[in-house]
Amino acid sequence: MSTEMVLFFLLLLLFIIHFSPAACQMLPAYAHIEGEWHLLHRSIGISAMHMQLLKNNKVVIFDRTDFGPSNISLSGRRCRFDPNDRVLKKDCTAHSILYDIRTNGFRTLTVQTDTWCSSGALLPDGTLVQTGGYNDGDHVIRILVPCNGGNCDWVEFPRSLSRRRWYASNQILPDGRVIIVGGRAQFNYEFYPGHSPSSSKSFRLNFLRETKDGHENNLYPFLHLLPDGNLFVFANTRSIVFNYKRNQIVREFPAIPGADPRNYPSSGSSVLLPIDENAPVVPEIMICGGATRNAFELANRGVFQRACSTCGRLKITKEEPAWKIENMPMPRVMSDMLILPDGYVIIINGARSGTAGWEYAKNPVTRPLIYNPNGKAGVRFSIMAASSRPRLYHSTAVLLTDGRILVGGSNPHKYYNFTGVDYPTDLSLESFSPPYLSPVYDRLRPRIIRTYEIIRYKNAFSLTFTVQRFVKTSAVSVRIVAPSFNTHSFSMNQRMVVLKGARVSRVGPNVYRVAASGPSKPEIAPPGYYLLFLLHAGIPSSGMWVKIQ
Ligand SMILES: *[C@@H]1O[C@H](CO)[C@@H](O)[C@H](O)[C@H]1NC(C)=O
Ligand SMILES: *[C@@H]1O[C@H](CO)[C@@H](O)[C@H](O)[C@H]1NC(C)=O
Repeated sequence: MSTEMVLFFLLLLLFIIHFSPAACQMLPAYAHIEGEWHLLHRSIGISAMHMQLLKNNKVVIFDRTDFGPSNISLSGRRCRFDPNDRVLKKDCTAHSILYDIRTNGFRTLTVQTDTWCSSGALLPDGTLVQTGGYNDGDHVIRILVPCNGGNCDWVEFPRSLSRRRWYASNQILPDGRVIIVGGRAQFNYEFYPGHSPSSSKSFRLNFLRETKDGHENNLYPFLHLLPDGNLFVFANTRSIVFNYKRNQIVREFPAIPGADPRNYPSSGSSVLLPIDENAPVVPEIMICGGATRNAFELANRGVFQRACSTCGRLKITKEEPAWKIENMPMPRVMSDMLILPDGYVIIINGARSGTAGWEYAKNPVTRPLIYNPNGKAGVRFSIMAASSRPRLYHSTAVLLTDGRILVGGSNPHKYYNFTGVDYPTDLSLESFSPPYLSPVYDRLRPRIIRTYEIIRYKNAFSLTFTVQRFVKTSAVSVRIVAPSFNTHSFSMNQRMVVLKGARVSRVGPNVYRVAASGPSKPEIAPPGYYLLFLLHAGIPSSGMWVKIQ
């Protein structure tokens, strides 16, 4: 077949999909397009263990400071001295970089305290607040203010957390504060900003104690801010709606079926599915994969148990909520779940067997899955193209402004080990382009040419876009995505809100205007910077930064 014919049939298929009454029920979603991997860098010098996209289209990446020299020099900037470091008391290599999406370049940042297994969130002004870590870093709050020149760097505030936060999770709140929950042996939470820098307070959360088993499995608890302002907290197999203002559990849900824990080190992943303001809001959580309950012990003895292949969905406002279980096409542990601009969920990275931890996983699963939350049951998953690089323990993934996924990391070792191991420490950076970026959709791809930089709650706003072939008004929607802090298979603060409205009018040849409303309230979308995407006929535009306030 000629390219024209392929294109013709694809367009015909799209036409059928979009004009059939069961439009959103059709799958495979992407007409057998499997997406594409691109290697961006063979080495960025560090292994991407934590990643956060900033409003200036740069990505902060860091690993840890206590496992030897990285593969990139600090080039004259302040070395790190740590008398307690077992490996290197003086370290003049970098453990953090700033990656620039536009130029594909990067530069080193200096971090002076240990960031291993820390957490983070963006404040309403776009500043990254990053909390805790290990050893000399476990009480530290670090700030990174995005800048366009070459000078911004980490600023660290030692002894600022009230408790040690190693493997905690963070969530930005409707009032612009950040809640920091749990961590190893911490059955409590605290806020940033706290009461005062040196005497901030922590509040007890016994649920975290109750969900700690012999191998923890309550670490990096899955947190999702709910539209009623409460916090969904998932640890091990259990979950609650938590009123953090009153320190009260509002309700508890049935345990996720199957008895297998889903948090670190079992390391499944979790998302709050997109919230659509055009319909009554029914918040729904989805959790996928993880290791079986005894996987940790077995891996310790060299037996790598098959990971869980199940996902559970829970509509949390139902009177009698029950997990609905479905099966992924393969078992997965240590995968990352990210909401794509089209509202689908990508499940990327991870392994088929074993668990999180040192040398504890085998059989990397290099093919991402894309899940259509509104698809017909049984055919919601599409299998994507394989990467050539295993992404196991300590690997990461974040959504980029243009709709690609940035993927890096993987280091199941206590040091940087490049030889003599099954899965060498990976210093590379890759991107995955989901099927919607394929050129076959170019005619349907909208391009935003103008919109507001600030969108206020409930306020009407408009944006202007061009598209070569406009399908119909009902094929257009406007959505915002919060850039998340990704580490250890969980993307903190991730959320998508489909905004109310999307009335379309034609204003010129191939030029259209769409009217929509800002999010209804900060509990739906906490204040801050979001990527705004226009979706047309299932194909997203590139994202534009907007500030919600
Ligand atoms: C370390 O960096 C050098 C370039 O500075 C590169 O040639 C080498 O491949 C890197 N090592 C690894 C293991 O990626
Ligand atoms: C990893 O590297 C460290 C330090 O270079 C070395 O001591 C250790 O034996 C290596 N581990 C493996 C599994 O090869």
